[in-house]
Amino acid sequence: MFVIRSEMPGDAASIEPLLDRCFGVDRQQKTSYRYRDGVPPLADLAFVAADEDQKLVGAIRYWPVRLDRQPALLLGPLAIDPERQGRGIGRALVFHSLEIAAAAAHRLVFLVGDPAYYARFGFAVAPPGIVMPSESPARLNYRVLDPNLRLPRTGILKPLIVTPSSPADVDTHPATAGRPNAIAMASAIH
Ligand SMILES: CC(C)(COP(=O)(O)OP(=O)(O)OC[C@H]1O[C@@H](n2cnc3c(N)ncnc32)[C@H](O)[C@@H]1OP(=O)(O)O)[C@@H](O)C(=O)NCCC(=O)NCCS
Repeated sequence: MFVIRSEMPGDAASIEPLLDRCFGVDRQQKTSYRYRDGVPPLADLAFVAADEDQKLVGAIRYWPVRLDRQPALLLGPLAIDPERQGRGIGRALVFHSLEIAAAAAHRLVFLVGDPAYYARFGFAVAPPGIVMPSESPARLNYRVLDPNLRLPRTGILKPLIVTPSSPADVDTHPATAGRPNAIAMASAIH
């Protein structure tokens, strides 16, 4: 049995070793981590799964990104304790977090992962014109949460940065704008 709950500050100490077990200790070399550098995960979309002994057995986080100027989410990492995989925990975390994201008016989600797993959540491989530099196009998945949003045919996925280099860089991402330590849109990609 497991429960899904919001991530709490003390959970990070359990999440980091879980991510190391699932993705390896060199996981921070992955391209997707360049989209997280200096940017905290979105607290409202960070969830964990805990077992009957309150042990943390799964976690999901999202980061704010942009498809050019279109605000979007980057789902991940999603990690389930290897001893608890295949029991629906990943499914529960993804469905729950996507429901909260849609309710919070997020419109577009990207992730880097196996399309064979994520198709069940409504994700599809991004069209060729949508690019996440240095990432395999075959593993770039997207899902539109707002039925009124049409995915542009072309676009570059961009990270956010913490230091605005010009007024044009000031953050207008709906998930982070106006918050302390305001995050600005990156004008260049890594
Ligand atoms: C991938 C992962 C998140 C799935 O979570 P989970 O709780 O084990 O999966 P669920 O119980 O929700 O779903 C199990 C189903 O997913 C399938 N599945 C699991 N990983 C898969 C993959 N990489 N590709 C295709 N299908 C996959 C299983 O075969 C099973 O299929 P079934 O429902 O037809 O039997 C988990 O195995 C994990 O943490 N893996 C290591 C880290 C990782 O790869 N994370 C995802 C990339 S961000």
